[in-house]
Amino acid sequence: MNRRYRKTIIAGNWKMNMTATEGKALIEAIKPSIGKVKWCDVVVCVPAVDIPMAVRSTKDVRITVGAENVHYEDHGAFTGEISARMLKDAGVKYVIIGHSERRQYFGETDTTVNKKVKAVLEAGLHPIVCVGESLEQREMGITKDLISMQVRAAISEVPADKIRRMVFAYEPIWAIGTGKTATAEQANEVCEHIRTIIRKEFGARTARAVTIQYGGSMNAKNAAELLAQPDVDGGLIGGASLKPDDFIAIVNAANQE
Ligand code: 13P
Repeated sequence: MNRRYRKTIIAGNWKMNMTATEGKALIEAIKPSIGKVKWCDVVVCVPAVDIPMAVRSTKDVRITVGAENVHYEDHGAFTGEISARMLKDAGVKYVIIGHSERRQYFGETDTTVNKKVKAVLEAGLHPIVCVGESLEQREMGITKDLISMQVRAAISEVPADKIRRMVFAYEPIWAIGTGKTATAEQANEVCEHIRTIIRKEFGARTARAVTIQYGGSMNAKNAAELLAQPDVDGGLIGGASLKPDDFIAIVNAANQE
């Protein structure tokens, strides 16, 4: 973390868990402890049908709401899809884009990621762009090359003045939902690499202002060590974001002056 130059953001990714009723109970459970934290931003990224509930439930606290997906067109005949304009109108501030689960199961590609990034920025929202390698790719020694490709594709044709509004999340696929966390050094190495790519494209000032999270089995026990790394500016939390005590502990680990 480096709060002097950039925000620390802890974001929960509920994935396809939590009905609106269950989600409301979860938000009510975390609100008293982390509804007013000062030194980091707290986001809950929720299923689309939970968005109105989440926006209502977080109205009086410093927790913001994110979506888990978006369509890149503004409107039109795209049955079942939701545009950035609709998310904005519903009170959403962040949108997860390019999560490995969407790349793996729903045909998300670097090209659609880039279109979604541009649509989300255009609507005035913050994209959280996920990048990360498989175990096979790590073992082949191509992690950094792959991350470079994913990041460069995501930021292609994005105006320089909008880059600072972007958040990146380094999520090694082998660490997601597996209980196998990247070491703090591995996490920092790739987060630093992402910052280097941004520095080369947009300069040092922009690069140091961008928040880069780590995600993949981050939990109450390992959060402090991961967040102590200079280039790890927060976390994108799956499983542990569904457990109030664990999520509160992670936020508290990030809420350091
Ligand atoms: P877990 O924290 O459950 O490993 O999930 C990470 C993730 O995919 C967040 O987007």
